[in-house]
Amino acid sequence: MSRAASSQRRRLALPEVTSTNSVALEAARAGDPGPLWVTAERQSAGRGRRGRAWVSEAGNLYASWLVVDPAPLDQLTNLPLVASLGVRNGIAALLGGDGERAQVKWPNDVLVSDKKAVGILLESERLPDGRMAVVVGCGVNVAHVPDDAPYGVTSLEREGVLRPLDVVFDTIAGAVEAAFGLFARGAGFAAVRRDWLAHAVGVGGPCRVNLSDRSLEGRFEALDQSGRLLLRQDNGETIAISAGDLFFLGADARGTPGVPASADARGQTNV
Ligand code: BTN
Repeated sequence: MSRAASSQRRRLALPEVTSTNSVALEAARAGDPGPLWVTAERQSAGRGRRGRAWVSEAGNLYASWLVVDPAPLDQLTNLPLVASLGVRNGIAALLGGDGERAQVKWPNDVLVSDKKAVGILLESERLPDGRMAVVVGCGVNVAHVPDDAPYGVTSLEREGVLRPLDVVFDTIAGAVEAAFGLFARGAGFAAVRRDWLAHAVGVGGPCRVNLSDRSLEGRFEALDQSGRLLLRQDNGETIAISAGDLFFLGADARGTPGVPASADARGQTNV
């Protein structure tokens, strides 16, 4: 276990694990009170959202933050927004004066110049004493990008950030902790939502959301008070969506004409 001299941050830095999320959840089961960061140089079974694998070769950042009882149960659905805002702010700090290129994409991706640079996977588990253990898993493309991604991807190096992995980790960890501080167990969600929307791609634009059993198209109207995407469908009905894969349709979601780099023949992109 290492502690940064400048802070009380607890960090377990490991060479290779199956998944840093798994190690963090195991720590919680074994009674670790959190907060605890688990990092690894590489993962042999990194997990992505919706059951996908997360390719995890050495050179990128794999970091999971264990927090026990981070908020009341009815506030846990907001944590993806809190986490993505924090990671986005960390990436913006690393980009320096160019930080506005870092944006969030619902529900919890972080993009740089419209390409995915970070994936975040939150997992949670109820502990025997009834409290919830939540793990915020962050995969940051620092040196490498996946070869076969069906959407635009980038890395910090490609975007001009040439900093050691430990600096990347400390910057992002500090920003995630600050976002959870702003959230204040839910009391500060309005501020989180405001900041998240200020840096979000696609709000107001046409989109499609792939759910586990169907796809829905419409306009990404807003975020509701629980962080759900409000989709206004062509029939005028607005529905609230908690989880799914978001695709922007046609011109990019901020209304700028042009076809995004990863658009397919139907002009759709999932970044
Ligand atoms: C996504 O599908 O976009 C989310 C990817 C999350 C990957 C990170 S890497 C660190 C942590 N450990 C995992 O197994 N997954 C997350």
